[in-house]
Amino acid sequence: MAKIAVLAGDGIGPEIIAEGLKVLKAVAPQHGQDLEFTEALVGGAAYDATGHPLPPETLELVQNSDAIFFGAVGGPKYDVIPDPNMRPERGALLPLRKKLGLYANLRPCILYSALSSACPLRADLVEGGFDILVVRELTGGLYFGQPKSWEGDNAIDTCLYSREEITRILHVAFKAAQKRPNKRVVSVDKANVLETSRLWRDTATKVAAEYPDVELSHQLVDATAMDLVRRPQSFDVIVTENLFGDILSDEAAQLTGSLGMLPSASLGQGTFGLYEPSHGSAPDIAGTGKANPLATILSAALLLRYSLGAEAAALQIEKAVEIVLNAGHRTGDIAETPDTKIVTCTEMGDLVVAAL
Ligand code: NAI
Ligand code: MG
Repeated sequence: MAKIAVLAGDGIGPEIIAEGLKVLKAVAPQHGQDLEFTEALVGGAAYDATGHPLPPETLELVQNSDAIFFGAVGGPKYDVIPDPNMRPERGALLPLRKKLGLYANLRPCILYSALSSACPLRADLVEGGFDILVVRELTGGLYFGQPKSWEGDNAIDTCLYSREEITRILHVAFKAAQKRPNKRVVSVDKANVLETSRLWRDTATKVAAEYPDVELSHQLVDATAMDLVRRPQSFDVIVTENLFGDILSDEAAQLTGSLGMLPSASLGQGTFGLYEPSHGSAPDIAGTGKANPLATILSAALLLRYSLGAEAAALQIEKAVEIVLNAGHRTGDIAETPDTKIVTCTEMGDLVVAAL
């Protein structure tokens, strides 16, 4: 039996997680997956109840789980907590990623053909949609390297990577590519000027030798930024270091139209992972039924794929989402026109379950 820690959090968190759970509970038994769900408090909800955004009980639960199914945390009510380390994102989400060693962030940026009018690019560039997986290194590079300082008129950040850190993230990218139809990895760096990028490129070439079925190419980050808006359909898996990945994953995300469609997975050693929508707690629409649960439902698919090895179950969810979109069902964030008939968060979850 697989143990899933369910951390719904704040704002729309509980609403979208409810729909994700509905879908997981419908699909898992069809694939022989026996899942045990345990809910725990996190973020503002945990702060209100216990005085800490990541209480010891929650940390203990996740450390004894196979995966975390996470909603979102934060909201204006918690922005005024005097100690910034007690605020939901800094006090719960960042420590979770760090304590659990989640060094790989996977963000599938999919433009569904039914939603291609939501893409800001010219129609002929994205006809039929696209499917890009951005794999970002999350715990190294410029964000964490020492020394780091600002004194007077001089400031320093250090970009530091070890071969080991690069190797492990590349394995995540190549393994993910093996599960995809096109099996292509673009390793993104700035090897014409950065030493860390030269080490990255050398490592990528060496790791690629272990995956003869996957095609590796190298690209400079500036060229990748251009190609993402010039020919997004040419990409399959993109793997890159922390800073480049931060920027490129947001660029790719914007091409898909709505934050409400974007799932994510954060992986560490082994099969453990944290799965959450890429968006936040959307306090402006919490409690109104307007939240799009598809990013969370698609995150549930990633949980099945990466933590439980249940590829067929993941594909079944992704196919169901496509069926629902092709049938024209829309939450407000993905509605094409003001006349589009809107479904609620719960109705969208029910539609996906029906399409399974
Ligand atoms: P947000 O992602 O919560 O919302 C941005 C905009 O997108 C809002 O207009 C919201 O209504 C809309 N939106 C987001 N998700 C949606 C969905 N599923 N369906 C329909 N519309 C959706 O970002 P914002 O407003 O900057 O942050 C709100 C709170 O969330 C803040 O406290 C922030 O710190 C926190 N946050 C938490 C994250 C996490 O838990 N991983 C990530 C990002 C922000
Ligand atoms: Mg970002």
